[in-house]
Amino acid sequence: MSYFNYQQADLYCESKKLINLVQEIPTPFYVYSQNGLIANFEKIDAAFSSLPHTICFALKANSNLSLLRLLAQRGCGADVVSGGELYLALKAGFPPEKIVFAGVGKRDDEIKFAIETGIAALNVESPQELEVVNQLASLVGKKVNIALRVNPDVDVHGHPYISTGSAFNKFGIDWEVVPEIYAEALKTKPMLNMMGIHTHIGSMIFNMEYYQATARRLKTLVENLRQMGAPIEHIDIGGGLGINYQQPLAMMVDGVLAPEVPSPEPQGLVDMIRPIFEPLQCEIFFEPGRSIVANTGALITQVLFAKQTRDKQFFSVDTGMHQLIRPALYGAYHEVVPLKQHAEKFIKADIVGPICESTDVLAKDRMLPAIKRGEYLAIMTAGAYGFSLASNYNGHPLPAEILVNGSQHQVIRHRQGYDDLLRHMA
Ligand SMILES: Cc1ncc(COP(=O)(O)O)c(C=O)c1O
Repeated sequence: MSYFNYQQADLYCESKKLINLVQEIPTPFYVYSQNGLIANFEKIDAAFSSLPHTICFALKANSNLSLLRLLAQRGCGADVVSGGELYLALKAGFPPEKIVFAGVGKRDDEIKFAIETGIAALNVESPQELEVVNQLASLVGKKVNIALRVNPDVDVHGHPYISTGSAFNKFGIDWEVVPEIYAEALKTKPMLNMMGIHTHIGSMIFNMEYYQATARRLKTLVENLRQMGAPIEHIDIGGGLGINYQQPLAMMVDGVLAPEVPSPEPQGLVDMIRPIFEPLQCEIFFEPGRSIVANTGALITQVLFAKQTRDKQFFSVDTGMHQLIRPALYGAYHEVVPLKQHAEKFIKADIVGPICESTDVLAKDRMLPAIKRGEYLAIMTAGAYGFSLASNYNGHPLPAEILVNGSQHQVIRHRQGYDDLLRHMA
């Protein structure tokens, strides 16, 4: 269900008419639906209810404190990949025993921070990292829970930039050598509480059979590890559940309503893995990012100029790749819709940002109702990997973030001003 809908010709987030919001808040800004966020989390949590489980929201998708608090208050855990994200997770109120920490390149101070905090698991990616963590845990004087990140060599056939579970990726330890490394750690590293395995095969996964194949591989691994005497208490299957970036509300192309491509249901994922994992009696950790927050957010922008070149029609807007990098980075698709629908005829155009890079194209060869300078647009499904990848490139202050609850809204991050560009500079 989408929490963004047209009523008559106006685009709403929940019961908030967005054209009213732009009278109050200068564009560009991100707007999120509070009830959409909660519903997405609760749906995933409910789907896993037949297994002992913890849902750990991947902060990399969106780490706004107000959104994190909403999730933490509802029993969600956190998946972090840096000391900074661990700090934010704790500030948002996630209990340490529901926080997992992954990443191929953790600095010593980040590892120490995790040890001192006493998190659910540090997901370790190499034998050398195990060695270092053991030494640091001795220094701190506290044991640390460890899950080995396994590379299961399952190719999800997605975009190469978001596939992580194949043998050629930098992530994890080859599944064939995991038992050997695990056994060595059990024998020689007294400060490590070896208690779990972790994997993450990629993002935007639509075919649940990839999770099934991964689960089978992990099950065999857990059985082998237990035979060696390793007490495996949890299996972390990573995140990656795909979502539909083509929202039905915006499917009017040349006046024709295109068929909706549905997002995979979390229940479909659980149905695939439950029969495999159930006999193991482990706690299952799942780390969704995108499927919790992507469709709860939109980036609101204003049209600055219309330009017709010999070959093309362009509309330049006041946001771009510095605030939503997904189209430039992955060629990702985001629906772009007007805050106020009108009956202009459809034309083919590119929507481009102000950044001095040719990749700064938010929507390419898109059929759009002819739009005019000053008009407002919403770039849909921008709640995940949107603000969290934003930068000050080309001297642009970061945009505001607004949270809508029913007909109410609050600013959950103030937009930067020019003085913020000077901050921390000598
Ligand atoms: C280890 C890990 N867990 C979870 C996620 C979240 O993935 P998604 O947002 O696709 O659910 C990622 C994404 O890169 C990841 O690397």
